[in-house]
Amino acid sequence: MNSDHQADSATGNDTTTQGDRVLIFDTTLRDGEQAPGFSMSRTQKLRMARALADLGVDILEAGFPAASEDDCASVKAIAAAVRGPRICGLARCQASDIESVARAIEPAQKGRIHIFLATSPLHREFKLQMSRQQVIDTAVAGVERALACCDDVEFSAEDALRTEPEFLAEVFSAVIAAGAGTVNVPDTVGYTTPIEIAERFAWLYANVRGADSVVFSAHCHDDLGMAVANSLAAISAGARQVECTINGIGERAGNAALEELVMALRVRSDHFGGLHSAIRTQRLHATARLLSQITSQPIARNKAVIGANAFAHESGIHQHGMLKHRGTYEIMRAEDVGVSRSELVLGKHSGRHALRERLAALGHELDDAALDDVFTRFKSLADRKREVFDADIEAMALGRDPEAVGPWHLSHLHATSHVGASASASVRLSHDDGRVVSEAAIGDGPVDAVLRAVTRAVGHDFSVDEFHIRALSEGGDAQGQAAIRVIHEGRELRGQSVSTDIVEAAANAILEIANRIEHLHADAPPAATVFAR
Ligand code: KIV
Ligand code: ZN
Repeated sequence: MNSDHQADSATGNDTTTQGDRVLIFDTTLRDGEQAPGFSMSRTQKLRMARALADLGVDILEAGFPAASEDDCASVKAIAAAVRGPRICGLARCQASDIESVARAIEPAQKGRIHIFLATSPLHREFKLQMSRQQVIDTAVAGVERALACCDDVEFSAEDALRTEPEFLAEVFSAVIAAGAGTVNVPDTVGYTTPIEIAERFAWLYANVRGADSVVFSAHCHDDLGMAVANSLAAISAGARQVECTINGIGERAGNAALEELVMALRVRSDHFGGLHSAIRTQRLHATARLLSQITSQPIARNKAVIGANAFAHESGIHQHGMLKHRGTYEIMRAEDVGVSRSELVLGKHSGRHALRERLAALGHELDDAALDDVFTRFKSLADRKREVFDADIEAMALGRDPEAVGPWHLSHLHATSHVGASASASVRLSHDDGRVVSEAAIGDGPVDAVLRAVTRAVGHDFSVDEFHIRALSEGGDAQGQAAIRVIHEGRELRGQSVSTDIVEAAANAILEIANRIEHLHADAPPAATVFAR
């Protein structure tokens, strides 16, 4: 069904054939990042892109360059720095969009331009106001324009699953004739079912001219909770590329979760006739946790494959069975997805070597300078806390986002709370330009008071849209992670900080946002990356 040539062009491997490979197209940094609550700074995207390359994704969709200058710069930075996956950028079927992708992916070793155009009757009539013929002409012109800039072009028919099958086949036949190497069938609104999508793929193969010469791809959203099931059904019916995101993040209910797709293919390879991906599954856990930390969005305990409960066995009957034979209640091994069963908890007597080992087990390979920095902070934390857990170490390894470091720094904080009366907080901040500003505020609790005091001191106009505090680990001395989201001039900005003192964590989280705003206004390049990898 799929030509070896196309698969090779996607993987960049000219000596092997795709055979029974399913290409993993990761869109965490595009479809995932565009969902509310998941925005990332350029440095954070770069860090995530490196982790995705280590994970072994085949195609990495790094962003939508025409959407903003920030997005464009991020795609370019990833294209310049990340080796391994094919670096892809999204574009509408418009010359200016396509040219921005071409410029952004220019430094990549292997690039792809991904163009899309809606094909369903609803979109044609109400969004595009285009006839069928105009849709075909625009799609073909888009492919031709993209091919003039890049030899690897993917075409997506937005809302394909609600498009008349005959018309969809016409569009795909036309873009294949124009030179598209991958045709993507998005279930844009998460509307389809496994049986329906399998039938649609089979029908398309039989009715699209040139189907044999391209890779068919599935891109499923999770509005009805079927994105993974639908993607797997599409694979069974011939799709050899699936588009997915880490932790299933994405528009509305999200996209198909990469870790679930990959493990389903692996655990049930009997059912999928030996089809497999090239993902290094032992890196799944670390990659999922990295994304969770960067975005301050916790992973549900019961999340398949990577949730904290995924390999926990509480009930007596299950534990009894597991002791006799792990296979009684376990279909995959924790080690296969990178969950370490180590009981090791670090404390103040642990040395640099033990810390390095633990970091490596968690998927963080730090250079010597970064390790020194983490070790100093680890020692200081271990003095305050009896046991240092994995989540504490991960938070340290992640470091601070350079785009949120300075010019404001917290130099003093005092907060009080009183039962039955307002809480108060006073702060002193210093600015790199030499200013020192002191402010005080009262609030509904010490966290509210400190947020008000810092906001007043930095003099920016923003109101807190979302605020979360969660304990990173167990015990009364656990570190608290404060995560704040504000909307500033229409842009989502997030800050986070970790401390054993949650009021201090809240102050530093809001300060991160103030610093992001200063960086934006100054349009200054961000400070040097704290941890080079
Ligand atoms: O969901 C969708 O239709 C998309 C396309 C741009 C591929 O994300
Ligand atoms: Zn999508």
